Amino acid sequence: MANYLVTGGAGFIGSNLVRALLEAGHSVRVLDNFETGKKDNLEEIKDRIELIEGDIRDPDICGSACKDMEVVLHLAALGSVPRSVSDPATSNTVNIGGTVNMLWAAKQAKSRRVVFAASSAAYGESPELPKQEDMTPAPISPYGVTKLTCEHYCRVFYLNYGLESFALRYFNVFGPRQDPTSQYAAVIPMFVSALLRGRRPVVFGDGEQTRDFTYIDNVIQANMLAADAPNAQGQVINIACHDQISLNRILDILRELMHTDIAAEYTDPRPGDIKHSLADISRAKKLLGFEPRIDFEQGIRLAIDWYKANL
Ligand SMILES: NC(=O)c1ccc[n+]([C@@H]2O[C@H](COP(=O)([O-])OP(=O)(O)OC[C@H]3O[C@@H](n4cnc5c(N)ncnc54)[C@H](O)[C@@H]3O)[C@@H](O)[C@H]2O)c1
Repeated sequence: MANYLVTGGAGFIGSNLVRALLEAGHSVRVLDNFETGKKDNLEEIKDRIELIEGDIRDPDICGSACKDMEVVLHLAALGSVPRSVSDPATSNTVNIGGTVNMLWAAKQAKSRRVVFAASSAAYGESPELPKQEDMTPAPISPYGVTKLTCEHYCRVFYLNYGLESFALRYFNVFGPRQDPTSQYAAVIPMFVSALLRGRRPVVFGDGEQTRDFTYIDNVIQANMLAADAPNAQGQVINIACHDQISLNRILDILRELMHTDIAAEYTDPRPGDIKHSLADISRAKKLLGFEPRIDFEQGIRLAIDWYKANL
């Protein structure tokens, strides 16, 4: 049992993580400003957590949030590539400035560990697959730059202050509570909600782009292991399923599972989006003991069930 701070705990990944921590018997504090997260995501557990409504751009809020916290799972960020392309300055201030505030606050509060939610967007467009953590990163979006910069800050805080901070590089996470309604919604919630409403899903590009889609439970498993892994400090660790799936293939699977034949509408590719992505996850296996348990098809069935019940 430990005291956990989850920043961004009202968001998609954070709110699932908070539930898993509570189930494991931990005490949980959430820091969130509800920029993209929702109070609804925490509704039925609100009496079991401590909620601080505040902004990670405010160092004093970060300081109070870290008080007495042993482990900080830092997920609060502006998470979208297109959003960062339209407004790089705000993504920069929230994602980088906010992370430096959180790391400093965790150090001052003598927290033991900070686990940072990094992104495969750090890799950029290099053609080599699978992506290994030692490859030279070359992000092609402001979002990717912010996430990569924070990885360096985590390593530097470990080197300079001994704060056990490190980065988990998530690859396209999906599952319950991922918002389909935002203008920056991710692809799976957009496709599922369009098909459920009898509308044509919109594909940016030819649909042959691939991603290593990772069901939320696998990301939760990685975070739970990360809290105590003995040799992870200062590292960057891919978290994914090592499974490459194209958007067209996802649409085929969804149409079959949802018993529909609605065709997609293809439009221009979006700036900042990469073409292919696939993770090498051997470092996660070695350093965390990570093993993905839910594969894409199992995950997509669970996600469809959730959207059917909750949309
Ligand atoms: N979803 C993915 O596929 C994916 C992939 C790679 C990395 N990540 C990272 O994982 C983290 C969580 O992503 P998510 O998909 O759950 O996104 P999300 O938007 O659902 O969650 C982010 C949360 O951070 C909060 N937040 C934003 N700005 C804040 C601020 N200034 N102060 C306090 N709280 C703030 C939001 O309100 C929200 O609750 C993010 O850091 C994201 O970059 C996500």
